[in-house]
Amino acid sequence: MLLRLQAIIFICSVVIWQSASVEQSSPRTGIEVAKFYGGLSPRSSSRDQIDKQNGDFRPLQFRFNYSSHINGWWCVKMYEGRGSWEDNYLCTNYDIGLSWSWTLQDVCMLSLKCVFTVEPSDAWWYDNALCLPSNSKIELVWSFCGPRENLSCIQLYDPSSPSYFHDNYLCWRQTK
Ligand SMILES: *[C@@H]1O[C@H](CO)[C@@H](O)[C@H](O)[C@H]1NC(C)=O
Ligand SMILES: *[C@@H]1O[C@H](CO)[C@@H](O)[C@H](O)[C@H]1NC(C)=O
Repeated sequence: MLLRLQAIIFICSVVIWQSASVEQSSPRTGIEVAKFYGGLSPRSSSRDQIDKQNGDFRPLQFRFNYSSHINGWWCVKMYEGRGSWEDNYLCTNYDIGLSWSWTLQDVCMLSLKCVFTVEPSDAWWYDNALCLPSNSKIELVWSFCGPRENLSCIQLYDPSSPSYFHDNYLCWRQTK
């Protein structure tokens, strides 16, 4: 009887230990802030530039690449451990403090304003979000059904992802 109890306790602790180590070795959790990639040095690096602008700043551009970061741009990897989303990068031509969050707890930080990049046909995308500092003058808009009128938009096209991803767009506008 005692032996059997010991065996059960042993098995339980192995199970607990194993799930703990799976937790630890799970790739990455949380949030990633855009960083500058490669090549040229960033043109006066600044998250603040956008707030200092007086309307004569060079236009903000977004670019998406499904296989690589873009040299000379500020990029976040839009990491989602499933499907083909382990090497997709969203980049801007200068630093706007963009971040990518793939767990729910980070999007509730008071210092951030986030848009969920929801894809209703995909059960795993409900908790992914793009975020900016809450005082940013840039407004992000997410669309899973094509570009939005009167906003600047880019398609987040990854040919390896299911077709229901192919009408997903990130749009933005800058407020004065
Ligand atoms: C993505 O980046 C790779 C490597 O720099 C480049 O060859 C490719 O043209 C880029 N694709 C797009 C869609 O920008
Ligand atoms: C888009 O802009 C045009 C021209 O300014 C305007 O006529 C139209 O009502 C706008 N559409 C929306 C949905 O705001």
